[in-house]
Parts: sequence; structure tokens; C-alpha cells
Amino acid sequence: MNNSRLKIASLELIDITKRFPGVLANDRVTFDVKSGEIHALLGENGAGKSTLMKVLYGLYQPDGGEIRIDGKSVTIHSPTDAIARGIGMIHQHFMLVDELTVTENVALGLKSSRGPVLDLDKVEARIRQLSQAYGLHINPKAPVWTLAVGERQRVEIVKALYRGADLLILDEPTAVLTPQEVDDLFATLNQMKRDGRALIFISHKLHEVVAISDRISVLRSGRLVDTVPNQGVTRAMLARMMVGRDVLLDRPHTALTPGAARLVLEDVDALGVIGQPALRRVTLEVHAGEILGVAGVSGNGQRELAEVIAGLRAPTGGRVLLDGVDVTSWTPGRRTDAGLGYIPEERMHDGIVQEFSVAENLVLQDYDHPPMSNGVFLNFGAIASRSRDLVRDFNIRTPSIETTTRSLSGGNIQKLILARELSRDPKVLVAAQPTRGVDIGATEYIHQRLLEQRRRGTATLLISEDLDEILNLSDRIVVIYEGRIMGVIAREQATAEQIGLLMAGVAEGR
Ligand SMILES: Nc1ncnc2c1ncn2[C@@H]1O[C@H](COP(=O)(O)OP(=O)(O)OP(=O)(O)O)[C@@H](O)[C@H]1O
Ligand SMILES: [Mg+2]
Repeated sequence: MNNSRLKIASLELIDITKRFPGVLANDRVTFDVKSGEIHALLGENGAGKSTLMKVLYGLYQPDGGEIRIDGKSVTIHSPTDAIARGIGMIHQHFMLVDELTVTENVALGLKSSRGPVLDLDKVEARIRQLSQAYGLHINPKAPVWTLAVGERQRVEIVKALYRGADLLILDEPTAVLTPQEVDDLFATLNQMKRDGRALIFISHKLHEVVAISDRISVLRSGRLVDTVPNQGVTRAMLARMMVGRDVLLDRPHTALTPGAARLVLEDVDALGVIGQPALRRVTLEVHAGEILGVAGVSGNGQRELAEVIAGLRAPTGGRVLLDGVDVTSWTPGRRTDAGLGYIPEERMHDGIVQEFSVAENLVLQDYDHPPMSNGVFLNFGAIASRSRDLVRDFNIRTPSIETTTRSLSGGNIQKLILARELSRDPKVLVAAQPTRGVDIGATEYIHQRLLEQRRRGTATLLISEDLDEILNLSDRIVVIYEGRIMGVIAREQATAEQIGLLMAGVAEGR
């Protein structure tokens, strides 16, 4: 690629301030990025990272401060304006249109060079060129609804490149990716860097930040803590800068004697969203006081497994038992009443009602009663005080408990759901990717709470793609591959290499 074509050699944000009602999201933040550099942005949930990037992308107008491109002061009025200046953004939550193909999505909102009809063949050819140059494997003709998250993200990146992004903002791009996909993404980012593009990378995973970035900036409560070069930083230093205190990055795990089997699955079969076999004769037991880790690359039946236990998906064979009682035909609500807690993977969709207040979502428990119908009879004083306690204990950053849940930062919405489910002291807990998108302080807290529930006798099924999380917390580990349990490994015998092999379907453990 030809560097002289690049529109941005350096970009500076100077003293940027952005307020929302009751929140100072950015407080005189100064930040810069240069051509050929990857600059990581770190900070706890609600620290103001996405807000700063939305100011840069023209989605928000700052209340104060200045943006300079190559030393010249500019105003970025809108995303269209940002794109015209060579700035692209991959959002925390994707913004593709499901019904359209990859090519149509890339072309969306662009005017054809020759009149009103867009030349989709040309767009497609360029997509193929870009995906070749950057190792972004996508099929331009595929409808977006058929794509997995990793593929969707590649489409977003191609779309940004297609529009000529010389500066690319990636807001938590790895949160939804498998370890292999993260490696592929990093290869793409390094290629862009070699081409002289400027990249801003946001992640909560410190090892990723250390692996990919040239410089690292840390935000805390809307303020810039510091900008440091990558050389010589350690994860512990970064954690301290983010949280303002030392953070335990590894958790001591004490041996407990597990009790009776509280959750049992016997030969469970289930179909997936498009009717494919998703679970094949899954048999497992989780005991009181035990965390059973389920490792695996996403899409191998984890979601169906969680849904079958929660009662959201009917198995086509086999049985589910809670405390020895066959609950296979029970509704989700009845299972909740019987002591089942569920932290769903797709928390933005399945876990909350976006329009409800924080307090309403914190008391939203039963899936089978419409939450509004019992609203009349609720004790509002009790709800308010309980909500305040949970907001404090789980460090949910919100101006008030009356705030609409939609306006919280991504990680804070996650903490809200975790607070609700864990505070009910469940007998059996299904936790699907419980710390995905959550900052290290909150991750530490969630891990502590999961271990505390374990001490209290909760039987926890921990489904996670994060191998460190699985290895740190689990008493036993099973690996799921193509809907089958590939092997059960005791904590003491578990190594990342061995689990990795099972995850790839390479070896049979048992
Ligand atoms: N549109 C909005 N309206 C009101 N408040 C908002 C809005 N967007 C963000 N906020 C608030 O601004 C603060 C910063 O949020 P932001 O989304 O920038 O955090 P973040 O660092 O990206 O967090 P996360 O790691 O959870 O994504 C939070 O307190 C959030 O609740
Ligand atoms: Mg964010």
C-alpha cells in the first residue's frame, strides 16, 4: 500500500470533556495516535473509553476540548464526516443489517460513482482485494444473518477499510472472539500498522494489550491516568493504574469436599437454532460446592447446553435433574423458583429489558411472569434499598437506580445481571461467559463471588472460552466439542495444552 495516500499522519485529542446527565464521562482527556502505531486504551467499565472514541468518530460533540489532525484543528460533525476524514470505527456492538449480504452491508450508505445504482460487482471485487490483503476471510455473497460473530467483525473491518479508514478505532474487538480468531485479528492489525494506518485498540484483557500495542493509555473515572510506552510495563502495573490499587490476577483455590449432585444431565440431546444437532448425549454432574468448568471454542453447543438447563430450549432426548428432581419439562420460571440461577451469554438480549430502570432490572427475576404484571404489588421501598445495596456491592457505575439501563456502559449492564443472579443465592448456577466484556476489577469481584457461592454449596456450571478463568476457578473441567463432552479432567491434572487439544477435537481425554 502507498503511504502517501494516507489522510492522517497524527491525530490529537486535547482536553476533551464530555458530560451526560449526572456523569462526567470524559474530563479533560488528552490522547494522541500516529500513523503506524497501535495505541491501546484501557480502563474499568464506565471509565469513558467508548465515549471518547464516539467523540472522535463524530457520534458525540464534546463539551470542551479540541481535535487536531496533522496539527490542524477540526470539528467532526458526524460519522459521515469522520469517515470522509479517514476515521473508521468498529463498535462494541456490531451494526450490520442481518437481512443483507456482506457486499450489500459494505455498500450501504455509499453513493455509486456512476449515478444512483450502486455497482455491487465492483464493491465485491474490492472486498475480495481487501480481504486478501489483510487476511480477512469472508464470503461477500453470504447474508449477514448466517455469519458467526468473528465473521461479522471481519465484515465490519472490511467495511471500514473500504471506506478508506486510515485511523481505525476498535472498541473491544476481542471480547467476542475465540483465541484463534484473536490471533488472526492481531495479524490483520499488524498488517494495517505496517501500511501506516493508525489504530486505537480497546480491550479489558491485559495480555492482549501488552501483546499488540505500542503505547498504552489508561482512563479512570473519565480522567487520563497516564500514557506509557509498552516497553517495560507489566500486567500488574496496568491493573494498578486502572483500578487505583493492587489487583489479584490469579486466585488461590482451596480444596473443598463436594457434596451431593445438585445438577445432573443424563444423555441429553438437543437441536440448535437452525435445527442442527447441537448436543449429543451429554452426561454430566455438578455437585454442591463444586465449580464444573466447561471449556470449548464457542459454537460447540455451549449455548444450547445453558439453554437446556435454564429451560429455554427443550431437549430432544435425555433428562435434566435439579436436586434429584426431574425438571426436564419445567418452565424456566419454575426452575428459577426451585433455585436455579442463570447468567446468559447474550446478556444484552436475554438478560435485561433495556428500557427498564436499573432497579427494575435488578428485581426482574421470573421469566414466565411478565415483569410488568406484578409491578403494582411490589414494595418499592424494599426494591430501592435492595437495588442500592447491589449497585454498591457490585460497583455498578450508574448515576442512580432510576437510570434507564440502556444508558449504562456495556460492562456495567453485565455487572447488573450478575448482581441480580448471584444475590439470589442460587442452589445451582449456570454462568455463561460471566466476565466477558467486564473489567479486571469487576472480574476479580465476580470470581470472588463465584468462589464464595461455591463455599456456600452452590453447584456451578461455568461455561467460558477464557482458559485462564476455567483453570483458575474450576474443580473439574469438561471440554465440549461438536456437542459432545470430550473428557473430564481434574483440576490438579489440567493443563492449558491438554485442554486446548481437546477443544480442537484432537484427543479423547477420558
Ligand atoms: N448516551 C449516554 N447517556 C448517558 N450516559 C452515558 C451515555 N454513554 C455513556 N454514558 C455514561 O458515561 C460513562 C462512560 O461510559 P463509557 O461507555 O464511555 O464507558 P467505557 O469505558 O466504554 O466502559 P465499558 O468498559 O463498560 O464499555 C458511564 O458512566 C456511562 O454510564
Ligand atoms: Mg465501552
